[in-house]
Amino acid sequence: MKCLDDFRLQLGGREYVPLMIGGMGVDISTSDLALEAARLGGIGHISDAMVPTVSDRRYKTRYVAAKMAKYKFNVGNDDKSIAQFDLGDLAEAQRLHVEYTMGRKQGDGLVFINIMEKLGMNNPSATLKVRLEAALDNGIDGISLSAGLHLGSFALMQDHPRFRDAQLGIIVSSVRALNLFLRKTKGLDRLPDFVVVEGPLAGGHLGFGLDWKKYDLATITAEVLAFLKEHDLTIPVIPAGGIFTGSDGVRFMETGSAAVQVATRFTVSHECGLPKHVRQEYFKASEEDVEVNLVSPTGYPMRMLKHCPAIGAHNRPNCEQFGYLLDRNGHCAYIDAYNRAVEKNPDDVHVYEKTCLCTQMRKFNCWTCGEYVYRLKDTTHQLADGSYAELSAEHIFEDYRLSRDDKIALPDITD
Ligand SMILES: Cc1cc2nc3c(=O)[nH]c(=O)nc-3n(C[C@H](O)[C@H](O)[C@H](O)COP(=O)(O)O)c2cc1C
Repeated sequence: MKCLDDFRLQLGGREYVPLMIGGMGVDISTSDLALEAARLGGIGHISDAMVPTVSDRRYKTRYVAAKMAKYKFNVGNDDKSIAQFDLGDLAEAQRLHVEYTMGRKQGDGLVFINIMEKLGMNNPSATLKVRLEAALDNGIDGISLSAGLHLGSFALMQDHPRFRDAQLGIIVSSVRALNLFLRKTKGLDRLPDFVVVEGPLAGGHLGFGLDWKKYDLATITAEVLAFLKEHDLTIPVIPAGGIFTGSDGVRFMETGSAAVQVATRFTVSHECGLPKHVRQEYFKASEEDVEVNLVSPTGYPMRMLKHCPAIGAHNRPNCEQFGYLLDRNGHCAYIDAYNRAVEKNPDDVHVYEKTCLCTQMRKFNCWTCGEYVYRLKDTTHQLADGSYAELSAEHIFEDYRLSRDDKIALPDITD
């Protein structure tokens, strides 16, 4: 059987190892992780989810404190529309994150940024434009547009000098979503450079309803490939979600995909942003520990470990500090869920209906994962104390690249 390294991804006239590490917010796919993928000849992603908050932690800025100081008076108010992000600060935070990453890049691969539309940030269009343009300004190789249909995102970037040379792609979960995107952007005379097809077994938010089990990645990918052929469009197609071994990837390459995108296997790498104890939770997970639920205020189903601290937590809405999920009316579904929980049991508030995703993702309390998280324990050694040996991103990348016959190479115990 072939291995992934027998294929190459062609993008912008160059060739890459056909392996892309997907974006994982909030700072789970770190700069270091993305850079490893690029160094090894593939493609890595940073994420700009909650980038001012990430910047405070990584680059010693004070954006969160400044926003809180400005809007503290509004904390008791359910209408958060006044708590706007400073667009200059947002651009600066994006600059710091992208510049810090791109300035350290080595090797022949690429670093992209994952930009989610669902982060409305209380002013969806203006904040999205700033995020997109600041990423391009500061030298990102490409952008993956995710968590939303992004019908207006190309138009937001169309006047940017890098609009035609940066690699710009879209993540979809159906032909319908791709068709809508292509129809909406037709007038701009610029196709996406790649299409990631994310299936129902992926981590993070899903582009499916709670009936996700009715769908499968191979079928949707085949439908997307057929649609592109029918319309005479040559756009690299990159499936994602549940591709656990290099051989899983090969099966997609042999049926017309240009590369594969993966994420869950890298959640247990040294370079990943999750704290050590959370990585161990991912290793330990069993099949029964995984659920797809509706606790995300975005309205999209999300897959996570069902014993994670984000579920049933009791924090007040934190929109004056964070507020990344506020829609154009200054509203987030968590605020309603919180108020209902307070009304029900004011002395012991636990919110099960929704989670305050900003607060919980920032604390790495929302343990989102792909369906096959329970197989991670098979990718390493269990140590004498019962814990699992962490892996280097290089080891995982090379295993995907070189493995044949569904084999998974275990690390040297010193890795
Ligand atoms: C911990 C985690 C966080 C994720 N966060 C995001 C995100 O912020 N934005 C996004 O578009 N996809 C996100 N994803 C999806 C991945 O980028 C990727 O497409 C998918 O998980 C691939 O499937 P796999 O995890 O089974 O390999 C996340 C996945 C994981 C595991």
